[in-house]
Amino acid sequence: MRILLVIFHLLFCLSICHGYRLLGIFPFHGKSHFVMIEQLMKGLARKGHQVDIISKFPLKKPYPNYTDIVILPTDVHLVNNVTYETMQQLITSNPINAVSTWAGNELCKFLGNPEIKELSKSKDPPYDAVFIEIFGAQCYSVIAYMLKVPLIGISTTSLYPWLYDMIAQPESLAFVPNNVINLAEPMNFWQRLYNVVHTFYDKWYFNYLTTQEQDRIIRKHFGPNIPSVRELEKKMSLVLINSHIALNGIQPRTAAAVDVGGIHVQDENETLQPELEKWMNDSKDGFIYFTFGSMVMIETFPYEFLRALYASLGKIAPMRVIMKIPKPEKLPAGLPENIYISPWMPQIKILKHPNIKAFITHGGLMGTLEAIICGVPMIGIPLFADQFSNIDRYVAKNIALRLDVNTITEKSFDAALNAILRDPLYRENARKLSQRFFDQPLNAVDTANYWVEYVIKYGENCLRSPALNLTWWQLSLLDVIGFLLFCITIIVTIVIFIVRFVKEMLNGNYNSLSYSKKIN
Ligand SMILES: *[C@@H]1O[C@H](CO)[C@@H](O)[C@H](O)[C@H]1NC(C)=O
Ligand SMILES: *[C@@H]1O[C@H](CO)[C@@H](O)[C@H](O)[C@H]1NC(C)=O
Ligand SMILES: *[C@@H]1O[C@H](CO)[C@@H](O)[C@H](O)[C@H]1NC(C)=O
Ligand SMILES: *[C@@H]1O[C@H](CO)[C@@H](O)[C@H](O)[C@H]1NC(C)=O
Repeated sequence: MRILLVIFHLLFCLSICHGYRLLGIFPFHGKSHFVMIEQLMKGLARKGHQVDIISKFPLKKPYPNYTDIVILPTDVHLVNNVTYETMQQLITSNPINAVSTWAGNELCKFLGNPEIKELSKSKDPPYDAVFIEIFGAQCYSVIAYMLKVPLIGISTTSLYPWLYDMIAQPESLAFVPNNVINLAEPMNFWQRLYNVVHTFYDKWYFNYLTTQEQDRIIRKHFGPNIPSVRELEKKMSLVLINSHIALNGIQPRTAAAVDVGGIHVQDENETLQPELEKWMNDSKDGFIYFTFGSMVMIETFPYEFLRALYASLGKIAPMRVIMKIPKPEKLPAGLPENIYISPWMPQIKILKHPNIKAFITHGGLMGTLEAIICGVPMIGIPLFADQFSNIDRYVAKNIALRLDVNTITEKSFDAALNAILRDPLYRENARKLSQRFFDQPLNAVDTANYWVEYVIKYGENCLRSPALNLTWWQLSLLDVIGFLLFCITIIVTIVIFIVRFVKEMLNGNYNSLSYSKKIN
């Protein structure tokens, strides 16, 4: 009996305590992207899996079951190092070009890293699945191909146009706006036309103009017979996407596309300095949190902008403001007394504080998702990249107001502050949206863990869409529609022919009839 129980226990344990060995390769140097990736991988480690990471962001504090096995060198330092001038350059650069070179081809050079090469050559696969970020550097798909284990992609935003085809996720361009252009649903005819043309252009640009270079890099390091990056990425078993229906809207989903929006919002291990906590507790009239994210330095903005800021924020006293400023010594003199500044902030702890009234943001996805999850209304001042479309989406949902960085004045800032602080509409909508975010059968970490285990258990093709085996014209049923049109044409021709024939026969009969009448 005892032995049976032990065996039962063992079997039970094997079925649920089995931790998988997961390898994550994340060479991109954008800190905001890694915020989501880190929380996702830590979440999987908490579920009992062994997580090994290759990235540019080693953990500062050790975390159980999470190991930084290779730390890649960084030559670009973006955190707290983007000035107003650099930002202006970012605005004018072609985003797809930036993603495919700067966040794509250039990162693929790390495939030559001896540790990564060594790892991918192990005969007995040391891992059960390989994770990569799908953005610009899909060349890392080759590691999963070499190890012959499932490949899992992480998208830190909604899918970019060139990421749909790898899992045959339907684009639904009639009602899903391409996320690199700023269009809102519902779209009129011209907007839909723009959406379609832009999407084709983006895909062509990324797939054929810029990233074919990655084929060369892959083959240089792994041999001439390796499939192309486009074929390798189509082996993707699962894609975990930082989106949520409450925010990104409804669209058809293939089984391999799984939403884990908000997975990065974890504050349990964020340290809150007692001094800051006391300051927030003491802000009896409430406070506003102001930050332009992990990269941008507010102190480098034009004097006119900062002056309007000082004037407006000074006026809302006794309400207070807490502002992230990387280099406070660079700020012009005259900072109002109700503003508390610090180079670093435990953002989620601040957004969760009961005294917070609003969030002033550049509209980065991670920060705004945190605000939405905490139910805090926003004033958005978008600066570059997806920030414009993020803020517009929140404006449409009545949880934010938008100001334009180039035209901002003391007056427009005053008006926005007044509205967001006094009109209960924004706070109420933010609260409802927050509630909707949490209302799901499994939380984001459990959802990710469930599908990752599913793919490892049942094999890399268990979620693969049959659409991947069809050509584009089969998929859009062009052949079927063409055939049906052909049949209809034939039938119509035959009918016309018969009608003509019958008519002529009747005419002929009539003629012959009248003719015979005549003779009679
Ligand atoms: C916080 O850190 C501890 C120790 O590193 C870890 O055991 C725990 O799971 C962490 N919690 C979260 C939510 O990350
Ligand atoms: C992972 O964590 C579990 C539970 O804490 C532990 O039993 C296991 O030994 C850990 N595995 C590794 C490889 O550290
Ligand atoms: C900040 O960026 C500049 C270029 O924009 C670079 O030269 C400098 O090394 C960076 N600073 C740090 C600390 O990385
Ligand atoms: C702030 O307020 C919270 C909740 O009332 C309390 O738990 C915490 O100890 C206070 N912290 C400080 C530093 O006053």
